[in-house]
Amino acid sequence: MQLNRDNNVIEDVRNRLSVASSVTILTGAGISAESGVPTFRGEDGLWRNYRAEELATPQAFKRDPVLVWEWYNMRRERLSDIEPNQAHYALARLEKRVGDFTLITQNVDGLHEKGGSRNIIELHGNIWRVRCTGCGGIKDNHDVPIDILPYCVDCGGLLRPHIVWFGEMLPDDVLSSAYSALEICKIMIVVGTSGIVQPAASMAYTAKRAGAYVIEVNLEMTPNSGIVDRTIIGKAAEILPLLI
Ligand code: OAD
Repeated sequence: MQLNRDNNVIEDVRNRLSVASSVTILTGAGISAESGVPTFRGEDGLWRNYRAEELATPQAFKRDPVLVWEWYNMRRERLSDIEPNQAHYALARLEKRVGDFTLITQNVDGLHEKGGSRNIIELHGNIWRVRCTGCGGIKDNHDVPIDILPYCVDCGGLLRPHIVWFGEMLPDDVLSSAYSALEICKIMIVVGTSGIVQPAASMAYTAKRAGAYVIEVNLEMTPNSGIVDRTIIGKAAEILPLLI
C-alpha cells in the first residue's frame, strides 16, 4: 500500500491501465460529490441529516409510504439538474478502450449511465426506477415529482423506489455478476467509498485475492487502504482523468 499522489504513482497506474485487458471499477458516493450530490457519511451527508431507519427500510415504507416517497421525491428533485463530472466521463472513456470492463456502483443517482458508461452493475438499485410491490415489475420513471402515491399501470399495486433498503438482500443475479467481474479482472479501481457497507466493503479484497492489482482513489484513508496496492488521495474528478 502506498499513499500519495506523486507523479510516479500516477504514471505507473496510467501505464498499467493503458495495457489492461480486464478492468473492474467499484464506485461510491464520493465519485458524485463534485457533481453536487451529498455523500452519506461526510459532512452534510444524508445519514447525518436523516434517519435511515425512518426512510430507507421496508418497515418504514410499510408504516408511512407517503413520507418515504416524499423523501425520494426530494432526492429526485435535487438530482434532476445534476450532471456527471470528469470522473464519470473518464470511466466512460476507459470502458471504450478496455475489452473487458465492468463498473460496479453503490450509487443510485444514475450519473454513470448519463456520463456514457454502459456495462454497469447497480448494487443498490437506481432512484430513476420503480418496482411494483404487487407484480414485481420494474420500470424506468423520471418523473419529478413522481405522484404520491404512485401505482402500477399493469396490476394496480403500490410502486416503491427500485432501491435496496437496509435489511434487504441484494438480488442474487446482481451479486453473481459483480463477483464474476471481480474474480477475472486484472486491475480494480475503488473510487469514493467509505468501505463500510457490505458486501461492497469486501469487494476490493475479493479482487485482490483473485490476483488483481487494486487501486483506491479517495479523499482519505479507508478500511480498504490496508489491503489495496495503491491508495491515491485526492478528488475523484481530478485523479481519474490523470489515470485514464
Ligand atoms: P459514504 O458517504 O459512506 O462515503 C463516501 C466516501 O467518498 C468517503 O470515503 C469519502 O472520503 C469519499 N469522498 C468524498 N468526496 C470525494 C471526492 N470528491 N473524491 C473521492 N472520494 C471522495 O458513501 P458510500 O461508501 O457510497 O447504501 O456508502 C455506501 C452505502 O451506504 C450507500 O450506497 C448507501 C449508504 O447507506 C444504501 O442506501 C443502500
